Amino acid sequence: MPQESTVNVVLIGMGAIGKGVVRHLHAFQDGNSSPLPLGIALHSVIDCVPDQKDRAEKRDFLDRYFPSAGLFFANDESASIEKLKKIFAESKAEGRSVVVIECTGSLELAKLFDFCLASKVPVITPNKAFLAKNLYVLDAFREGKVPLLFEAAVGGGMPTIKLLRDMFGSDRIRLIAGILNGTTNYILSAMEKGCEFGRAIEKARERRLAEPFRKDWKVETDADLSGPDAYAKISLLARLAWGCAAGDGGADSKSHGLSASFIRRSDLRYAKEKLGHAIRFVGVARQVTNSSGKRSIDVFYSPVMLPAGHELCRVDGENNALLIASDFTGTTLGVGPGAGPSPTANAIVSDLLYILRERAMHPEAIGLAAGAAQRASAPELTINKFDDVEFEGYYLRFVVKDRPGLVGHIAKILGDTGIDIREVLQLEHTAEEIQDLLKSGHLSSGSACALNYLPFAMTVERASVRKVREAVGKIMDSLARENVPGVEPVIIPLLDIPRVNGWQKRIGPEELEEWSIEAASSLQGNKFSVDLFPGRYNSTEKSRAVEILNAEAKQIEAKNACVKRIFLSAPDSIDESLNQVIKDHQGRGVIVRVLNIDSARKYLRRTEDGLLTDFSVYETREVGIVELAGERSDGGMVKQDRGYQVYGSAELDRYIKTFQTLWDFAEVPK
Ligand SMILES: NC(=O)c1ccc[n+]([C@@H]2O[C@H](COP(=O)([O-])OP(=O)(O)OC[C@H]3O[C@@H](n4cnc5c(N)ncnc54)[C@H](OP(=O)(O)O)[C@@H]3O)[C@@H](O)[C@H]2O)c1
Repeated sequence: MPQESTVNVVLIGMGAIGKGVVRHLHAFQDGNSSPLPLGIALHSVIDCVPDQKDRAEKRDFLDRYFPSAGLFFANDESASIEKLKKIFAESKAEGRSVVVIECTGSLELAKLFDFCLASKVPVITPNKAFLAKNLYVLDAFREGKVPLLFEAAVGGGMPTIKLLRDMFGSDRIRLIAGILNGTTNYILSAMEKGCEFGRAIEKARERRLAEPFRKDWKVETDADLSGPDAYAKISLLARLAWGCAAGDGGADSKSHGLSASFIRRSDLRYAKEKLGHAIRFVGVARQVTNSSGKRSIDVFYSPVMLPAGHELCRVDGENNALLIASDFTGTTLGVGPGAGPSPTANAIVSDLLYILRERAMHPEAIGLAAGAAQRASAPELTINKFDDVEFEGYYLRFVVKDRPGLVGHIAKILGDTGIDIREVLQLEHTAEEIQDLLKSGHLSSGSACALNYLPFAMTVERASVRKVREAVGKIMDSLARENVPGVEPVIIPLLDIPRVNGWQKRIGPEELEEWSIEAASSLQGNKFSVDLFPGRYNSTEKSRAVEILNAEAKQIEAKNACVKRIFLSAPDSIDESLNQVIKDHQGRGVIVRVLNIDSARKYLRRTEDGLLTDFSVYETREVGIVELAGERSDGGMVKQDRGYQVYGSAELDRYIKTFQTLWDFAEVPK
């Protein structure tokens, strides 16, 4: 039996998403003409279509699904309010309640929202741009006990808002990091697969990836790739997590992220081949505490480099992802379609069902049920300006007309600005690649001349964005003064964010023993084994590990194999016992103990300072690699079958390169 309709739904804005909502509401119908479950009827649609032909097209569309629904045209907010007044009054007279679904994408909606609030009419919206600019409406609806639901505003069909509001209602959130714009992620993924930047954008357009290709979105501009769209989303999430107001999501992209529009495939290569990282556009909101204990929030949307094995780097194509790190739950990750009419409409209609269910269960407290878990605004928590955000390190990529002493000159300016260089990275580049890099900075040059330009990259230590920008500004000024042409450097922060619990497992001594035996039995002649010590061990574990390694070394020696060892471990694992291992095997095989990247760096410095006296490599032969378990999948999952994820393969490559550098530095006895 069809249920009598008791709820009139009014849809404002029938574009891509509005039409999706109409189709989705219809899909709920039991048979062709019966009202929807829970007594929902699409009462009317208000749209703003100036063109007569388009109006006819919209009527036809609506007739296909809800022929009895009214279709009205309103050119602005006031006209929509006038129409709503009539609908609210009529519905009241008929004893029906109203829910408004706003799908216009407009920013001029403050009066309309106020009007719905004053009329006690619940509102559902996917309009993150409006909400992020008008966060006060969240408080106003909560205080007025009127439901305002916006699940579709962030992540389309991927659960985000309800997840934060309901699942983390009693938790203390530390960090939220998300891939929040499917198009930019799609562009990056395509570039990773070998597509040039321009072609990747074209492909995204061909696929009509919805949100960013709205008329006001010009992909060529900086504002798009470091997107106000995603910044609005992360601002909303920050508001839900901490009650803080991240403010204007639109204005100046430089104020909330670093430029992404110059990123080219070469940068992806530097990230992968030299750093073991991948580039992702990530929206981050995280709580930081300064040295005097004052809490504040960083909110930004920027291209960043993450270790290639990080879960967010596996989010491919137009998918979105949201990682939440909190005190009680640990780290969780959701991945799913972030846009498109179907997932977005489903989120909107699910919000509608939520309101109706809550109303059925708590008629007197409906607004409370839908909004109470939202944190009240917390103005005491300040949002840091993007310039003041500190990152763990940065990748800087330059393309400058080559001349002697260039790298040293740039390094000096960085040093004078108080920025420490970690490493200088250089890849081989074809003339075409250099040409492409020059074009990205609007510099043109024939392909023969392109070879006169030197692309190179540097990584630098922890600093604030302001400081790095200042240093890069000084570099550019100095090069301009000396008439050295070059393109604006690309700056990409190196971001350190938690991984999902359980995906990264510390390897205990037992596993180590097992691994070592396997390694020993597979090790032959001129090969070296790689032992992975990804975690920090306590002293008992360490000495046990050393015992095992010693025993293993002896076993290998018994087979007359040459032993070259890399210890990838925490700096403090380089202790007396390991030195002892080296001494014990001196002259009998090759044992190189080392290091995670931090300690490798330390050791490199110590070498430069002439302090690295005890570091020895006793034999050089061709280096081959025995992989521990003989398994190394794309993601670098070593021993995946036992649930370990150690390092991404690219990261492992990086360690090996570091090792080779150390090898080069080390004094090799004849
Ligand atoms: N597209 C996605 O995948 C996606 C995903 C998540 C969230 N969203 C959000 O969903 C909303 C709608 O996006 P969309 O892609 O559907 O946009 P769209 O295709 O441009 O549709 C918007 C519709 O609203 C109409 N409109 C604009 N201002 C109006 C007003 N003041 N009163 C009545 N109608 C008005 C537009 O008419 P005219 O064309 O004549 O201007 C158009 O028909 C946006 O807030 C967007 O951020 C979209």
